[in-house]
Amino acid sequence: MKVAVLGAAGGIGQALALLLKLQLPAGSALSLYDVAPVTPGVAKDISHIPTEVAVEGFAGTDPSDALKGADIVLISAGVARKPGMTRADLFDVNANIIRSLIEKVAEVCPKACVAIITNPVNATVAIAAEVLKKAGVYDKRKLFGVTTLDTLRSETFIGELKGLDPTRVTIPVIGGHSGVTILPLLSQVQNVEWSSAEEIETLTKRIQNAGTEVVEAKAGGGSATLSMAQAAARFCLSLVKGLNGAKVVECSYVEGDGKYARFFAQPVRLGKEGVEEFLPLGKLSAFEEEALKGMLETLHADIASGEKFIKG
Ligand code: NAD
Ligand code: LMR
Repeated sequence: MKVAVLGAAGGIGQALALLLKLQLPAGSALSLYDVAPVTPGVAKDISHIPTEVAVEGFAGTDPSDALKGADIVLISAGVARKPGMTRADLFDVNANIIRSLIEKVAEVCPKACVAIITNPVNATVAIAAEVLKKAGVYDKRKLFGVTTLDTLRSETFIGELKGLDPTRVTIPVIGGHSGVTILPLLSQVQNVEWSSAEEIETLTKRIQNAGTEVVEAKAGGGSATLSMAQAAARFCLSLVKGLNGAKVVECSYVEGDGKYARFFAQPVRLGKEGVEEFLPLGKLSAFEEEALKGMLETLHADIASGEKFIKG
C-alpha cells in the first residue's frame, strides 16, 4: 500500500506523516509532498524511525513523483483559519490548490482513493469531484472528505461529560464539516442518558464550534493540527484495512444517494474499492430531524460554490 500526503510539511502534514510512519502496515510506502523546500528533510527525519514503512519526500511545484503508484492520497495542502475567519473564507486560496493537485491525481494515479482534509471541505470535495469528472476518471466510491475530527471530538466530549472511556464511545456524525452542517447523532450513543434537551443542544453546539475553539486558543497560530493528524491517520488506516479486504465503518463526507445533498457525511462501509456500502443514518430524534433540515440550505450552497468553481 502506498500512501501519499500532499501538504506534508504543514502542521497537519508532518504530524500525520509521523503517525503513518508508526502505524501503517509493514511493507507500506509513504510519500510526502509539499511546495515547501523542507519536505525531503521531513521525510529524511521520520525515515530514521525504525518501522518497515519506506518514506520518500518531494518538494517543488509538481507532485507527480510523489503520486506515482499511490493507492491513497491524503490532501492537507492549503491555508488554515485565523481568529475571526470562517472556513468559507479559505475558499479563494484553497480552491485553486485543490484543483491543481487533483488534476495531477487524475493524470498520475486516477484509481487512488483520495481523502480531502483541506477546508472548506464541504466545497473542496465538490471541486475534486468535478475535476476528476472532467478528466473522465471520477469514481464516487473513492473520493472522501475527512470529517473524522468531528467524530473524535464527539467521542471525547461525550466521554468527559458522562464519565466514560472515550475510546469506547461510538457516534455517527453526519452532514458536512462546518458550523450547523456538523450534526452529531447524540440520540444514537449507546448506554448514555441525556438529562435534558438543553444538555443535547449545548453539546451539539460545542461539537459544531470545536474547530473555532482551537482557532481561538491558538490565537493566530492556525487551526487544529495534532488532533486532525490523529483523525486523518485513523481514517487512512481504516481505508487501508478496507482496501486490504476487511470491512470497516467510518463516517465520511461522500457522494451517496443524494437524498439530502449531493455530498453528505454519513456512515460508510469501506472495502476493496473504497466505499463498499452507503449505510443508513438510523433513527433520528426530533431535534436531529430539525437540525438536519436546518443545515441543508448551507450545505447546498457550499457544494454549489465548489461545482461552480470548476463548471463556471
Ligand atoms: P499549514 O499551513 O500548517 O500547512 C499547509 C501546508 O500546505 C503548508 O506546508 C504549505 O506549504 C502546503 N501547501 C500550500 N500549497 C500547496 C500546494 N499547492 N501543494 C502542496 N502543498 C501546499 O496548515 P494546516 O494546519 O496543516 O491545515 C491545512 C488545511 O487543513 C487547512 O485548509 C485547514 O483548514 C484544514 N483542516 C481541516 C480539518 C478537517 O477536519 N478536515 C481540520 C483541521 C484543518
Ligand atoms: C477544524 O474543525 O478544526 C478544522 O476544520 C479547522 C478549522 O478551521 O476549524
